[in-house]
Amino acid sequence: MSGRVLVAGGAGFIGSHIAEAYLEAGWEVVALDDLSRGKATNLPAGVELIRADVRSSEARRAVAGGRFDVLNQQAAQIDVRHSVDDPGFDAQVNILGLINMLEGAAEGGVRRVVFASSGGVLYGEAATIPTPETAPNMPVSPYGVSKLAGEHYLRALGALRGIEGVAMRYANVFGPRQDPKSEAGVVSIFVSRLLAGEPLTVFGDGTQTRDYVFVKDVARANVLASTVALPPVTTHESRAFNVATSREMSVLELADAVGRATGRKPEIQFAEPRAGELARSSLDTAKARRLLGWTPNWSFDQGLEQLVGWFRGGCP
Ligand SMILES: NC(=O)c1ccc[n+]([C@@H]2O[C@H](COP(=O)([O-])OP(=O)(O)OC[C@H]3O[C@@H](n4cnc5c(N)ncnc54)[C@H](O)[C@@H]3O)[C@@H](O)[C@H]2O)c1
Repeated sequence: MSGRVLVAGGAGFIGSHIAEAYLEAGWEVVALDDLSRGKATNLPAGVELIRADVRSSEARRAVAGGRFDVLNQQAAQIDVRHSVDDPGFDAQVNILGLINMLEGAAEGGVRRVVFASSGGVLYGEAATIPTPETAPNMPVSPYGVSKLAGEHYLRALGALRGIEGVAMRYANVFGPRQDPKSEAGVVSIFVSRLLAGEPLTVFGDGTQTRDYVFVKDVARANVLASTVALPPVTTHESRAFNVATSREMSVLELADAVGRATGRKPEIQFAEPRAGELARSSLDTAKARRLLGWTPNWSFDQGLEQLVGWFRGGCP
């Protein structure tokens, strides 16, 4: 099944892979991005780019007038620390920008909105690992609060305006095109530093764990979520899906894996732990397997090989 989709944030890291996956599945794809972080060259051939800010009336008109079946909303302020420094800006982009796009979607008769949420920040320090979607939400950063608010607007405005909303709760996504300067991209940071012969900085003792999911698997989950029959909405998280591997990896294990993949021995410099950083994070993916028919296809090492290849090829 396919149709016509607008990928907001389509010139970014994850959005550009999503645009590619839709194209491969036979969709007509348009991207909308203000290029504040994304690059037009990330987009595959055949994808038109509308340069606009998700908060603008131009963006709202683009969703409303584009005859789209699906809006896929990846565009966001993605930096947790920036959200702590400037929570107002984070809320403007991640909450008001989303509402603007949802209103445009409602005006344009868009059937479904697939929204990039974050399983890495929504649950806080979870009691159950891997963490299921039903775990309590306790985000500790303004960014986490804006993602949770986004999910609530998606559900409530969706019900009011007749749009189906799906929230994709990503773990730590990695792969080609992830900016090694972005604070979220520890795998990219480690690969680029090792290839440049630089030491790796590990905050705390390096035993903190994360769940690393390859970007092409994330993109495929988004395409599946665009057409699959959804369960009825009985709770806030009825239509939320963890997109992860359920595998925990410590920062020290990550450094070793990157060392093996690059053929360089990592030199590690330990630094003070960062305030508010979670000790453990890994997400249960049983629901995505059951309802989306999705499990990750890429092992961590296969994904890492792709990322190293991308850096060695000069990050095209
Ligand atoms: N990378 C991860 O591990 C991860 C984890 C959980 C959730 N997410 C979410 O996934 C989505 C994509 O993240 P990413 O890692 O690809 O980041 P990214 O910065 O590469 O992509 C975001 C894109 O949105 C665009 N954008 C930002 N503000 C905009 C605005 N006001 N108007 C229009 N476009 C705007 C940027 O130019 C960029 O192209 C985000 O919603 C992010 O919160 C990412």
